[in-house]
Amino acid sequence: MHKVNIAEKFSKISEYWKPYVGAELNGQMVKFDKIKGEFVWHHHDHEDELFLVVKGRFRMDYREKDADGALRDRHEWIEEGEFIVVPRGVEHRPVADEECWFLLFEPASTLNTGNVKNERTIEQLQYV
Ligand code: NI
Repeated sequence: MHKVNIAEKFSKISEYWKPYVGAELNGQMVKFDKIKGEFVWHHHDHEDELFLVVKGRFRMDYREKDADGALRDRHEWIEEGEFIVVPRGVEHRPVADEECWFLLFEPASTLNTGNVKNERTIEQLQYV
């Protein structure tokens, strides 16, 4: 049981889109992720995800069904010091023009690419 310095953890991370586990509690993980560029569209069938921006900003794109069942895209910029919860089932894609650092709070079982499996999927997370 020791305190964690967030900046110090991020200083050890050099790759983008590779979440590292910083802590575990109640079956949840606190993950450290540095991002830049565009991720893949995906959703999580069973997990809600919380993204807390520590440095920089990113844009979260969503694809939602409106009342008629038509797909509608929208996005929201998440600024430093802000967080967002993406509910299970919602199609989403994080995008960052510049390097952004965020913390993720989600169940240990959550896969970074959700329902999609491709070269960006990371099955075994390392600890930082
Ligand atoms: Ni996700």
